[in-house]
Amino acid sequence: MNTVTVSAPGKLLLLGDHAVVYNRPCLVTAVGQRMQATVSLVDEHTLSLEAPEVGIYGYRKALKDLGGDTIPKNVQFIENVVHNFNKRYPLSKGVIIRTKSDFSSTFGFGSSSAVTVCVLKAISQLCGQRLDNKSLFKLAYQTILDVQGVGSGFDIAAAIYGGILYFVGGGEKIEQLSVKKISLIVGYSGVKADTPSLVRSVAAQMKTAPALYQQLFDSSTYCVEEGRKSIVDRDFESFGRMMNYNEGLLASMGVETGMLSAMIYVARDAGAYGAKLSGAGGGDCMIAVAPPEKVSDVKAAITKVGGQIIEVTTNVQGVLLV
Ligand code: MEV
Repeated sequence: MNTVTVSAPGKLLLLGDHAVVYNRPCLVTAVGQRMQATVSLVDEHTLSLEAPEVGIYGYRKALKDLGGDTIPKNVQFIENVVHNFNKRYPLSKGVIIRTKSDFSSTFGFGSSSAVTVCVLKAISQLCGQRLDNKSLFKLAYQTILDVQGVGSGFDIAAAIYGGILYFVGGGEKIEQLSVKKISLIVGYSGVKADTPSLVRSVAAQMKTAPALYQQLFDSSTYCVEEGRKSIVDRDFESFGRMMNYNEGLLASMGVETGMLSAMIYVARDAGAYGAKLSGAGGGDCMIAVAPPEKVSDVKAAITKVGGQIIEVTTNVQGVLLV
């Protein structure tokens, strides 16, 4: 076997955004939009990469030169994960990687994490190193930290495990919730958020009011724990209430934008049980849950203020061989 194709899902953070960076819990769902990587082993000791969705064609580098500070932005995750694998399990052959995406990297659905997981799973499979999910998580999360310097790893966990997860920052706990799919309304703000800068801006704000931030993170934990119970009981009214509280906390952290806030408020006014931003804030997407008879009103309201509705399925399978 010289070629393997692997796919992994994107994600949406349901509750616990930012607080999860400080070892608090979050709830995350894997979504139906997936990344795919086809990896082949070749005799030449090089990494070759085609990633058309991010404008990378014909990228080549000798395996011995991987890593370092001069990697083009859109290649960083893939090159670093190959480099990290090669350091731990030296490759006797070179690799050709082709990636394909179901979704735009601007939505904040975690394309970088999903592609990192796909490449790692495919290479380990080809090299006969059948890494279990824990080992996949460790190596992929290390790669995210090498590239971004910050991040909780929840997106890596969603790409590997799929489903709906209760996740504690750094992967201290990863629990698959036994729940059915949930019906989420997703509105894209039209702006791509820069997650590492937003995480750093929260860290800087925290220095000005550390005790307040501890309370915000404690309250975020409350929302996640209550939200977890509600989602298991399929009590979406109470889940929506936790989303609304959580949004208030995120607004206090300064990551809400006018556009996100507009979409969130009209969604609530149109009958959603709850609505909040999902992820780092500063752009990307908002999410809402609503009673079935209100879903079309909520979507229309979000569209009317300039949001783009993105249809998603939730609670989908994690990384898999195609
Ligand atoms: C970004 O999608 C979510 C944050 O909580 C960062 C992270 O958990 O890595 C802001």
